[in-house]
Amino acid sequence: MMTAKEIRESFKQFFESKGHQIVPSAPMVIKDDPTLMFTNAGMNQFKDIILGNQPAKYKRVADSQKCLRVSGKHNDLEEVGHDTYHHTMFEMLGNWSFGDYFKKEAIEWAWEYLVDVLKLDPNRLYASVFEGSPEDGLGRDEEAATLWEQFLPKDQIINGNKHDNFWEMGDTGPCGPCSEIHIDLRTDEERKAVAGRDLVNNDHPQVVEIWNLVFMQFNRKADGSLVGLPHKVIDTGMGFERLCMAMQHKTSNYDTDVFQPLIQKIASLSNNKYGQDEKKDIAMRVISDHIRTIAFSIADGQLPSNAKAGYVIRRILRRAVRYGYTFLNQRSAFMYKLLPVLNESMGDAYPELIAQKTLIEKVIKEEEESFLHTLETGIQLLEKTIAESRKNKQTEVSGTETFTLYDTYGFPLDLTELILRENGMTADLKGFEAEMQKQKDRARNAASIEASDWVEIKPGTTEFVGYDFTEYETSILRYRKVTQKKNTFYQIVLAQTPFYAESGGQVGDVGVLVNEEETIEIIDTKKENNLAIHITNELPKNIEAEFMACVDREKRAASAANHSATHLLDQALREVLGVHVEQKGSLVTPDFLRFDFAHFQKVSNEEMREIETLINERIRENINLTEFRSIPIQEARDLGAIALFGEKYGEEVRVIQFEDSIEFCGGIHVPATGSIGIFKIISEGSIASGIRRIEAWTGAKVEKMIYEVEDTLKGLRSLFNNTPNLVSTIEKHIEENSKLKKTVEDFLKEKEIMIKQNLIKKIEVINGVKVIRFVSEIPAESVKNIAFQLRSEIEDNLFFVAGSSDSGKPMLTVMMSDDLVESGLKAGDLVRQAAKLIQGGGGGQAHFATAGGKNKDGLHEAVAKVLELAKLS
Ligand code: ALA
Repeated sequence: MMTAKEIRESFKQFFESKGHQIVPSAPMVIKDDPTLMFTNAGMNQFKDIILGNQPAKYKRVADSQKCLRVSGKHNDLEEVGHDTYHHTMFEMLGNWSFGDYFKKEAIEWAWEYLVDVLKLDPNRLYASVFEGSPEDGLGRDEEAATLWEQFLPKDQIINGNKHDNFWEMGDTGPCGPCSEIHIDLRTDEERKAVAGRDLVNNDHPQVVEIWNLVFMQFNRKADGSLVGLPHKVIDTGMGFERLCMAMQHKTSNYDTDVFQPLIQKIASLSNNKYGQDEKKDIAMRVISDHIRTIAFSIADGQLPSNAKAGYVIRRILRRAVRYGYTFLNQRSAFMYKLLPVLNESMGDAYPELIAQKTLIEKVIKEEEESFLHTLETGIQLLEKTIAESRKNKQTEVSGTETFTLYDTYGFPLDLTELILRENGMTADLKGFEAEMQKQKDRARNAASIEASDWVEIKPGTTEFVGYDFTEYETSILRYRKVTQKKNTFYQIVLAQTPFYAESGGQVGDVGVLVNEEETIEIIDTKKENNLAIHITNELPKNIEAEFMACVDREKRAASAANHSATHLLDQALREVLGVHVEQKGSLVTPDFLRFDFAHFQKVSNEEMREIETLINERIRENINLTEFRSIPIQEARDLGAIALFGEKYGEEVRVIQFEDSIEFCGGIHVPATGSIGIFKIISEGSIASGIRRIEAWTGAKVEKMIYEVEDTLKGLRSLFNNTPNLVSTIEKHIEENSKLKKTVEDFLKEKEIMIKQNLIKKIEVINGVKVIRFVSEIPAESVKNIAFQLRSEIEDNLFFVAGSSDSGKPMLTVMMSDDLVESGLKAGDLVRQAAKLIQGGGGGQAHFATAGGKNKDGLHEAVAKVLELAKLS
């Protein structure tokens, strides 16, 4: 029986023998395609070739690609683990022809590989062909059907509709009919009872699609019409895990050696056995699937977070934790313990797992711990909701509440329903669905981008000339109009461009297109499927004219300085903190640079100084840039150049060297480090578990900061008579100040005692009550102290009313003994009413209350009013 590793290898060998170049898997996380967050098919990495943005270096290519699907035609995250053949992450084996062979070879080789090489039983195979689509003016794919008839009897060839047998890359772009190969893995008796062809495309767990052969021959335009594609493309994708299931005579992908080691580990960690309890089995499948996705995403540079791709990963991780929690009774972090098993089985084929194992482990463990905490909070919240509903005699919990649990606390509806059921309650399902729909609409509105078809002015592809020029005479190749959130702008493709398109962390250039007639502002330059796109709010009037494309040189120079400084920082971090420092993200703008890296503790002040000193020394050395514009990737590795995990590199790469700092990089750099001027770290902190972020400035920005600091210091010094020892002088002042404060406090206390004694002497007895009235200009705090001292000395029949003002702010205070409170007087009411006379308000308890106000002149009247209200005047 072939192992998964052997099957993967045999596929590559087979297509190599048919003249295909074997290429590595692209990263699973996608960085320069606004329509896609994750690689969801093998063809993603060839989109630029299929779209005609890049020439194909090889006309025949094959690979095994790591893919991630969390939603789409055949996949829904909430279902993964419940059946035996869907996954979030999976490997797709594929072969491609870019304008070379077409349907004949694609079909013949697929057959040869499955039947002659792998020896799969031809009686169990079915092929579907496109039945045609009147709305697109297309008939049945007879060509494919005839080719299949060489190998398969007619009843194993099935017609398929547009939904299943017409593959489109997106709403617009290359597309074409496809043929899917399905395999029937049921027992002979089952096959006798029901024909396999009746189960194809019917969600039967043992009659599954294994290979999709796409014949791209059309281009779908924005108006929905189809035109022929000049270079036809073959794009195939075979589900590796399903192929392993077929080859290893299993009835579930999870029973193959791709998943079993993980499942066995989960079983032993949770003291269970796989295959005994369906609920537990589902949980084990979920976890074995999800751990792969999470580990590979982190290895590709995508950490769990609260936005976009990071949020997708976080949700998947939380789903796994929740299944472990609910069905396997895992109350503390456990998934990270599966990593050694994953590394053992996949580390050979994907070395990024091994290289980053400490980080992956740490991130997963901390994410698990934090979510377990959230989960507990969510359960408490749900319990509270249940208790409240009971009190209100309700048995249904609203959609808003269940949705909050889902969205904020990661509770899927079934978990909430389960807990509710245990408490004799139900969830308002319609309400939940409505909330869910609202959220989907919000997301759709936020993301909706409408682009027209490209309007072609001239044929051709772009040449980037920005490494050598900041100005270049050129013309427009094509343009299109784009509308996003009601904003309309244009995207322009130039024949040659000096504009750097945002990538590798460096922001895109801005500038102008200028000729004698007009000047068009370029507000940004971005990369889409390897194409530099210039963004502008207006199109030139004469679209066919020649223009001088001019980059804003000042901003470009500032970006270059920050980019080169980023390389020096990366190098210095490795020297000072250690070689485990691995870049996890960067942003280079004209204003500042930001660098995220793996490191497990705070960078100390001493370390930061050391890093800055090293970098500034290298700036002063004025080290020349050595640029290897295009060298074979192996040569670059031999030079010791640092590559980034999760980055897609071709066979030829660009390398940027400043002596010991050698990196794979496509960005813009200074000719020599001296141009950076000076480097200063502005902040250092943690952004995620195990990831630190440094922000820094260079050149003129640091100069400006130095002046600001200097001005502040000068200002401070002049406040202290230009003393040369600012720090010790300020220290002395602080010390003196606290001594003075203490002295003032002591004085105040003595004064309070004196005042109190005087007040006791002046007690007026009115209606048998000892009335003390007091108007003065002492702090409110002192009045309060005096009032409380009086209350403790005079236990009965005490009524104290004070009008005080402190720095002009009037305050009314009433304090009385408990017996007066019992007789019905309320200090709070009295001050509230009398405070009107000082234009204020307040209140308090029955025995003590205060009110602040605005009108100091009304204090005497207010005091009199209190006494009048208390019937003590
Ligand atoms: N691109 C085709 C698919 O994903 C092969 O099914």
